[in-house]
Amino acid sequence: GIRAGETEFRPGQPTPTWGFTSPATAAADRWPGTYLGPTLRAERGEKVRVEVANRLDEPSTVHWHGMHLPAAMDGGPHQMVDAGGAWEPHWPVDQPAATLWYHPHPHGGTERHVQRGLAGMFLVDDAPARQLGLPDEYGVNDLPVVVQDVRFNGARFDHGHRFLRNTGFLGDETMVNGTLAPYREVRDELVRLRLLNASTARVYDFGLADDRAFDLVATDGGLLGAPHRTDRLPLSPGERAEILVRMAPGERTVLRSSPPGGGDFWQSRFSGGDDSFDVLELRAADTLRPAPDVPARLADVELPDPADASRERHFDLRMSGINGAPMAMDRIDATVERGATEVWTVRNRDGVTHNFHVHDVQFRVLAVDGEPPPPELRGRKDTVYVPSGREVKIALRFDGPPDPDVPYMYHCHLLSHEDGGMMGQFVVV
Ligand code: C2O
Ligand code: CU
Ligand code: CU
Repeated sequence: GIRAGETEFRPGQPTPTWGFTSPATAAADRWPGTYLGPTLRAERGEKVRVEVANRLDEPSTVHWHGMHLPAAMDGGPHQMVDAGGAWEPHWPVDQPAATLWYHPHPHGGTERHVQRGLAGMFLVDDAPARQLGLPDEYGVNDLPVVVQDVRFNGARFDHGHRFLRNTGFLGDETMVNGTLAPYREVRDELVRLRLLNASTARVYDFGLADDRAFDLVATDGGLLGAPHRTDRLPLSPGERAEILVRMAPGERTVLRSSPPGGGDFWQSRFSGGDDSFDVLELRAADTLRPAPDVPARLADVELPDPADASRERHFDLRMSGINGAPMAMDRIDATVERGATEVWTVRNRDGVTHNFHVHDVQFRVLAVDGEPPPPELRGRKDTVYVPSGREVKIALRFDGPPDPDVPYMYHCHLLSHEDGGMMGQFVVV
């Protein structure tokens, strides 16, 4: 159910919010309010059917971000659910284990719907991932970390704040899973954090407060071939990553976000680039369950091969639209053939940060400004950061079921940009 309600982010101060509820969460009194949504979970090979009931007094949608599914089930702006209406999308889950998410996608209203609280995680599992022995006890050593920046005016959200017209909303504090100043007690040596940047405009550069290294094991669409040891990880809106953090008994550390790189001084300053946030504190118990070493090999990563590409396309990103035209619901911008591999070149032609998200597929980053991609961009991706001036080349394979009548979307995932028309539509035929 998509519902309006309220949430006490601070005790005694109810904030009007929207959220997804399920019969289970609605019944549990530990459910803290109407904000975000339950984590959904399915196994590769399973068929899912979701019963969506829109209890708002305005239309919305539910889009399955990162999911490979038929266009009619995608939950984009062509699958509106009326106020009081219902929708039952169903599809076979056919993709590797990954951390995906869901959120509304009404044309022109996505920022507003997500900001009020409509977002949740959707985890895909598969047997090869399970056999790796990574931390996988949900809520114990395998933690969803939905990161959002917020700004309050008394008990109410202040969504009006814009540093500059072009930036989008920037908050002055962050929440994890709808909790302010969050901490987590940890009873395992190794903790898996499933990071989701569910902010509407802010780019994070995650690290640990003491600069310790962690292992990046998965990106948007699933596991990397091998773990990547690093101490920094940028995530733009919509991107996900799974990291493994090793803890010592009794210690504390903080997942922190530093100012993101990319773009020039002014761009970074005016998009909140000076801001650091303590995002989540981890507090280790005095005795920890031992964990094995992270396996050296993680997965055979399913990636498109650019040698198979039958077509190239170019996408120039500007506030005024992609390739010079704002989104039009009745215009198809690209028609691709089922089974085709294509190479797309995405360029940011603005002085403003953007990113680029494509529905239905997980793509492969071939090059960033003509150079081979950094390790964190070598796995399956559905969203990629494209700051001012950058050029990103990607390979995509479209093997969804053909449907000439219902388009998928590609767009900037800074939601005020998307709402403002930085979106286009493609069909698979
Ligand atoms: Cu996360 Cu088209 O969206
Ligand atoms: Cu999406
Ligand atoms: Cu943008």
